[in-house]
Amino acid sequence: MKILVTGGAGFIGSHIVDSLLAEGHAVAVLDDLSTGSRDNLPAGVALHVADITDTAAVRQVFAAERPDAVCHQAAQMSVSRSVREPLFDAQVNCLGLINVLDATVAAGCSRVVFASSGGVLYGEVTHPAPESTPANPVSPYGITKWVGERYLAFYAAEHGLTAVALRYANVYGPRQNPHGEAGVVAIFCKKLLAGQASTINGDGRYVRDYVYGSDVARANVLALAATDRCPPGTLTSLNIGTGIGTDVVELEALIRPAVASAARARGRAVATPPPMHGPARPGDLRSNLVDASLAASVLGWRPAVPLPEGIARTAEWFAERA
Ligand SMILES: NC(=O)c1ccc[n+]([C@@H]2O[C@H](COP(=O)([O-])OP(=O)(O)OC[C@H]3O[C@@H](n4cnc5c(N)ncnc54)[C@H](O)[C@@H]3O)[C@@H](O)[C@H]2O)c1
Repeated sequence: MKILVTGGAGFIGSHIVDSLLAEGHAVAVLDDLSTGSRDNLPAGVALHVADITDTAAVRQVFAAERPDAVCHQAAQMSVSRSVREPLFDAQVNCLGLINVLDATVAAGCSRVVFASSGGVLYGEVTHPAPESTPANPVSPYGITKWVGERYLAFYAAEHGLTAVALRYANVYGPRQNPHGEAGVVAIFCKKLLAGQASTINGDGRYVRDYVYGSDVARANVLALAATDRCPPGTLTSLNIGTGIGTDVVELEALIRPAVASAARARGRAVATPPPMHGPARPGDLRSNLVDASLAASVLGWRPAVPLPEGIARTAEWFAERA
């Protein structure tokens, strides 16, 4: 299959590109490089630098590539930016999605996989939430992911698309951007490698479901393949996570020794001081976990990389580049 990966130069998108190429698919990328980087892509992959909200540019990319399927990862993905700039968030995440879906239909392409978010869709949940949990997004970003799924369901029904929405939990791993406000594993790795203490917001007892980037990429490859089996005209929404909760205090305690050991392996001694506590972030959910048993039965997907191993690999990746 030829697959167009929007946001393919970003953290998750670039892992998807790697996994698709490894499976023998042809891949092209559409990305405006606002948070992604050309360096995340292997040589030889066609990269179209374009904004998903630019109708003419997106149409041109579809006309040039004529993809069999679209894997839509491009988004404004910061919850806090969405709170500060809800209009910008909706422009990229809603209007950009509609633009991509219009171009998909116009190009005669009928398979779409969409990056949704289990981490923000269900709101506060203390047990792994199945897909049947009522949506309760509390941020503009969460609202755009929910609205995005509704648009996808509409386009599927109206235009006979086969669509899969993957509701990721908290994704972490190599290539995640450590400079933003999201991506706690990347942020802590970067800080500790600089010999600085991590800052834990509030008491740090905020429970999340951490899933490794390459596991999420594999879920996308399986979802693209499943568009052969899923009935046309429908949207299938699937959680992608581990169902295992880890709070930020526990997470930091795993990252600190992993960073020290990754630095030591490269002949460097870093201080890795214990964490400091900063103010709580207003609106942070106390607990959020997803139940991915439906993805196991529909896609045969299960997470393969346990958290300590994923953290060790991530620390090594950041240590190599420190
Ligand atoms: N990281 C997570 O924990 C997580 C969880 C749930 C869902 N998601 C979703 O997964 C997807 C990928 O996120 P990520 O963590 O890899 O973030 P990322 O910022 O690394 O990737 C997003 C990519 O989209 C590109 N992009 C942004 N705006 C664009 C625009 N207007 N036009 C074209 N390209 C644009 C960026 O340059 C970047 O390469 C996003 O849709 C995000 O909402 C991520």
